[in-house]
Amino acid sequence: MPEKNIESALNEKRVFPPSAEFSSRAAINGLEAYEKISRKALDDPEGYWAGIASELHWFEPWTKVLEWELPFSKWFVGGKTNISYNCIDRHLATPRKNKIAILWEGEPGDVRALSYQMLHREVCKFANVLKSLGLQKGDRATLYMGMVPELAIAMLACARMGVTHNVVFGGFSAEALRDRINDSQSRVLITADGSYRRGTTVALKKNVDDALEGASSVEKVIVYKRTGDAINMVAGRDAWWHDLMASASADFAAEALDSEHPLFMLYTSGTTGKPKGVVHTTGGYMTGTYITAKWVFDLKEEDTYWCTADIGWVTGHSYIVYGPLLNGATSVMYEGAPNFPEPDRFWSIIEKYRINIFYTAPTAIRTFVKWGDQWPAKHDLSSLRLLGTVGEPINPEAWMWYRKNIGGDRCPIVDTWWQTETGSIMISPVPGAVPAKPGSATRPLPGIVADVVDRQGNPVGVNQGGFLVLKRPWPSMMRTIYGDPERYKRQYWSDIPGVYFTGDGARRDEDGYFWIMGRIDDVMNVSGHRIGTMEVESALVSHPTVAESAVVGRPDELKGQGIVAFVTLAAGNQPLPALKEELKIHVGKSIGSFAKPDEIRFTDSLPKTRSGKIMRRLLRDLASGTKTVGDTTTLEDFSVLAKLREEE
Ligand code: WTA
Repeated sequence: MPEKNIESALNEKRVFPPSAEFSSRAAINGLEAYEKISRKALDDPEGYWAGIASELHWFEPWTKVLEWELPFSKWFVGGKTNISYNCIDRHLATPRKNKIAILWEGEPGDVRALSYQMLHREVCKFANVLKSLGLQKGDRATLYMGMVPELAIAMLACARMGVTHNVVFGGFSAEALRDRINDSQSRVLITADGSYRRGTTVALKKNVDDALEGASSVEKVIVYKRTGDAINMVAGRDAWWHDLMASASADFAAEALDSEHPLFMLYTSGTTGKPKGVVHTTGGYMTGTYITAKWVFDLKEEDTYWCTADIGWVTGHSYIVYGPLLNGATSVMYEGAPNFPEPDRFWSIIEKYRINIFYTAPTAIRTFVKWGDQWPAKHDLSSLRLLGTVGEPINPEAWMWYRKNIGGDRCPIVDTWWQTETGSIMISPVPGAVPAKPGSATRPLPGIVADVVDRQGNPVGVNQGGFLVLKRPWPSMMRTIYGDPERYKRQYWSDIPGVYFTGDGARRDEDGYFWIMGRIDDVMNVSGHRIGTMEVESALVSHPTVAESAVVGRPDELKGQGIVAFVTLAAGNQPLPALKEELKIHVGKSIGSFAKPDEIRFTDSLPKTRSGKIMRRLLRDLASGTKTVGDTTTLEDFSVLAKLREEE
């Protein structure tokens, strides 16, 4: 944690209430309704959450809503359910049976539409495939694919039989994939030959082959044929998706799983050490994603909804797959890049399918601003009625651009704050009820108790910066770090006693609106990707020329944060420009190209405290060109800082 509290500089006064027309049709249709639900949730949290959970299907009812032994929670204890059943089967006896569940567009322009009935068939068949390979309830499977419907099918098939899925973003390198397979001890790996990205193909299977040299838990690899590129198939280990599916039965009854059965793990960056597997369980996660998708996106039966995230991140889990399908919505999925073949691909997709709800990231919005207004202007975006953002704080001017150029000054914007750990949206306007302020995620959703506090856990005053915490357990909260409950405790529940510490700084204004100020720990947020400084440092130090490194984020107009690496070379190595390039490529290879440093600075030594800790705060100031104002008295050797400044 930083040594002092945070200061907040933003002073944004504009307010945008929803139109009367939007509110009149909304699920929560005004401030009064919102306050009423919030009050109910505050007075009787268990009754409130139980009411929501009971809108879904349970094979057996729970006996206890919440078992809370700080920091470990169990929700809907004793209840038996299945999220795959709730996403699919529950709709089959209704007119949704033939509604499109997943509407997919490939980057080359191919289109697939899967109705709920069709999705059911594919998911059941694939569950039988997994079963035929010997996979059982309680096993783990790693999924490393591009954005194809089969990724969602595989997740839902795992969930159907109680196999815990571990989706690894297709942009990760072979090494990063290997670590995640090993940590999760997955028995099966589901992948594709490749995936389309910006007009070329990404060689997923090649990475898999590399990763599996050194990942012995994997017995079988299932390969979906997407690109048709030549790949290596290992006899006895690898099998084609289509071959296995050809003979699979389409009958597979969803398992009645314990509410606390682990649904998935998803690796994310923390402050120290290797990425951690955030574990989410069944009943609580289902309840959280169901109600937030319903209220925040105000889903109507006739809506076409599109979230542009990758399923490899939590946003894709909760708001492409589970949340929308739990609500019987039509969820659009796009495979490729936003600028292929031209920078208007997103707008052409919105026009083509008459999309109503569009959810994307601030980094994407800033990129659209850079590409220019002419691209959205070429398209009819009048079908849109609601916009959303997630992943990092949105600058008020980017928010205004989004509202005007994409939302036609007519669509409410939901700025949704949440994390991999929270499972579902925590702070966001409910669009028909809570007036928006550009740059603010506004107020916590009903049932969520958020606060801004100092290091001791005392609430700070209005408009004072502090640490964002969540004070009460909620159903979709992470349960633990896979295999490391102590680290879970330490990382989230120790710095500030008794509450969940988010790692974010925030302030709350006079209207109770939250303004998130970004990470205050050593986690960077680069284009919405969470990357630990430690991970990049480890990658650098694994290069034979590097003795030590310190990595920090600095503000970046497009990416939110860029990565700057300070590197000390091992004796005998020359600080040559070519080595900088080599190190960047090395990081790309170790983690994935999204983690490549933007800048590498060679230095003879790094600023450290007397106890030997690198003072990243000083490096952060240096990297972003701001003057260091904080305390430097703990610095071991002042000349190091002066030298670093000279080297700029
Ligand atoms: C940041 C993504 C400001 C924040 C769902 C958080 C945000 C981290 C917002 C989680 C937002 C996410 N405003 N900051 N609306 N949404 N963040 O785990 O720093 O990939 O802690 O989850 O992203 O990133 P993660």
